[in-house]
Amino acid sequence: MEAEDSMKPWIRGIATYTPGRTVEGAVKLSSNENNYGPSPKVIETLKGSVPSIYRYPYKDELVRVKTAEYAGVAPENVIIGNGSDELIDLIVKTFRGPSLGVYPSFSEYGIVSATNGMEYDEVQLKGDFTFPLEEFLKAADKANLLFLCSPNNPTGNIISPKDIEEVLNLGKPTVVDEAYYEFSNKTSLSLLPKYDNLIIIRTFAKAFALAGLRVGYAIASPEVISLIIRTKPPFNVNNLAQEAVLTALDDLEYMRDCVEKIKADRSILEKAISNKFKVFPSEANFLLFDTSPLSAQDCFNKFLDKDFVVRAFGSFKGFPGEYVRVTVGTSSENEILFAALEDL
Ligand SMILES: Cc1ncc(COP(=O)(O)O)c(C=O)c1O
Repeated sequence: MEAEDSMKPWIRGIATYTPGRTVEGAVKLSSNENNYGPSPKVIETLKGSVPSIYRYPYKDELVRVKTAEYAGVAPENVIIGNGSDELIDLIVKTFRGPSLGVYPSFSEYGIVSATNGMEYDEVQLKGDFTFPLEEFLKAADKANLLFLCSPNNPTGNIISPKDIEEVLNLGKPTVVDEAYYEFSNKTSLSLLPKYDNLIIIRTFAKAFALAGLRVGYAIASPEVISLIIRTKPPFNVNNLAQEAVLTALDDLEYMRDCVEKIKADRSILEKAISNKFKVFPSEANFLLFDTSPLSAQDCFNKFLDKDFVVRAFGSFKGFPGEYVRVTVGTSSENEILFAALEDL
């Protein structure tokens, strides 16, 4: 069989997702993880849960109830996914396209649309990376599924509640990706009773430090959730992930303490970077900066020489400059990072 002859034609040209790099022995600041790691209680729970991995996951409903309680909504408003990545996929499977997002933003919206044979279009952010409301509303005429990311990855800024509401007023299914919600403390949740086209997605990968276990959730009206659930594979979230989430939600104090430390260090790091480069204000756990006249790759290499792995984007099409994104790590990692920055 010539495998390529049998493939769906739209799969052929798809560029796969490029994750932040991991280099053994270096501090990873390339994937916006929480480098403090999960609550020690989560580690204990996981150790005790290993013997039960022969069972299929069976705590779906409990995780849903506890997640809903954390978010301040009813369980019927929530669906749990294998990372928010899976929720993006299930949402794309559920709704008609074409889909629309902004550039630069999280690349999975385009990749997942493409793998599902859905056309995806992008509206360029304004020069200062703020949300281009007028252009977006115009482009949304031709789209049926809209992706907003707030705080936006990789720029770190939020979309104003007023702009989000203007987009929701179009009445089209609209995803507001709040992967970094705990860091910004800003959410579109209060709009949910008014807009049944709003779908918020969040994750346990960032503030809760459970990236490796893959758990995210979406919040929407019960009707929309019941539609998305039709596309969900059974047992999409594994036993250990379920146990970890339940324990993490019982130890919110640990998560909130991490978030406070990371936010305080974000300000210090922002100042330190701004001595060398143009850095963009962020409400997430990362900072984007323009490395010019240094190329992003050269900047990456210089950080790697100091045992730090950052994320080099290079240039963003249509924008001047060269871009690197750095995750705010732990306080002790930051102290060494400041010294590395001095030497750049
Ligand atoms: C904006 C945004 N959405 C979603 C995700 C995916 O998160 P998860 O690990 O829950 O799949 C990421 C991960 O970096 C992200 O930055």
